[in-house]
Amino acid sequence: MGFTTVVVETSGAVQTLILNRPDKLNALNSTLLAELREALERAQEDASVKVLILTGAGPKAFVAGADIAEFADMTPAEAVAFSRRGQQLFDAIERSPKPVIAAVNGFALGGGCELAMACHLRVAATTAAFGQPEVKLGIIPGYGGTQRLPRLVGRGRALELLLTGRTIDAATALSWGLANRVAEPEALRQAALALAEEILGVSSVAVGYCLEAVRAGLAGTQEQGMEAEASLFGLCFASEDRREGVGAFLEKRKPNFPGR
Ligand code: COA
Repeated sequence: MGFTTVVVETSGAVQTLILNRPDKLNALNSTLLAELREALERAQEDASVKVLILTGAGPKAFVAGADIAEFADMTPAEAVAFSRRGQQLFDAIERSPKPVIAAVNGFALGGGCELAMACHLRVAATTAAFGQPEVKLGIIPGYGGTQRLPRLVGRGRALELLLTGRTIDAATALSWGLANRVAEPEALRQAALALAEEILGVSSVAVGYCLEAVRAGLAGTQEQGMEAEASLFGLCFASEDRREGVGAFLEKRKPNFPGR
């Protein structure tokens, strides 16, 4: 099945998913969310894909939020279901054993900021703007924003954005740790690819386990995180990557990880 709102580009082991509703600043309507879910599932099943990049089509927006048009006639019960559906998709991104990098090419507002935060790393264009403007609409974030933002930038900064609805620019996002790096708009995709290539040079097994250990600790207590870390550390010792990585170091050569 071809997609209408998601464009898939593959370059070696890196797959880029481009959210493609530029006329509506890539606002997340139900079609786009369903296609993104399907594209992510396909990427997980495709063993040749090792790193994912998410970005927005057009020069203005990564994602300008959930599609506000869909809010007009929503009942409270429908809104709960709407929130849960989005939360589940964004949780799936966070749980992905393959790293997901957001290349934030413009507005990342509301659901767009939440989507960027569900990704593991964020590279921002100098023109990017981040914010959770929901309070300006009389609602609150529903796709994880009240949870991921304080975990990423701390409670005080998160509440500043959540309570005022104002946006911050890329430089501020960088200094707050919301963006990992900033690049000129025309160099953004290249910067995201460079980060992806760096990750491709190490063990993909270990990368997947790092993601899981960090996620487990942040989702639960530090004690639970420590348990997850010990188990996953143990699992490394059942991998060919560990044999290759440690062996190559001892033999003073470059490792060639099989990714198993
Ligand atoms: N949902 C639905 N449509 C949206 C949208 C959203 N979240 N964000 C932008 N659009 C649409 C606009 O309605 C407009 O459509 P139209 O051309 O059919 O009228 C189109 O995208 C372009 O947006 P426009 O507002 O004309 O661009 P701008 O450069 O003047 O302003 C923003 C850009 C991002 C400041 C402005 O679009 C905005 O405030 N968007 C809503 C952001 C928001 O509140 N997001 C959180 C939602 S929970």
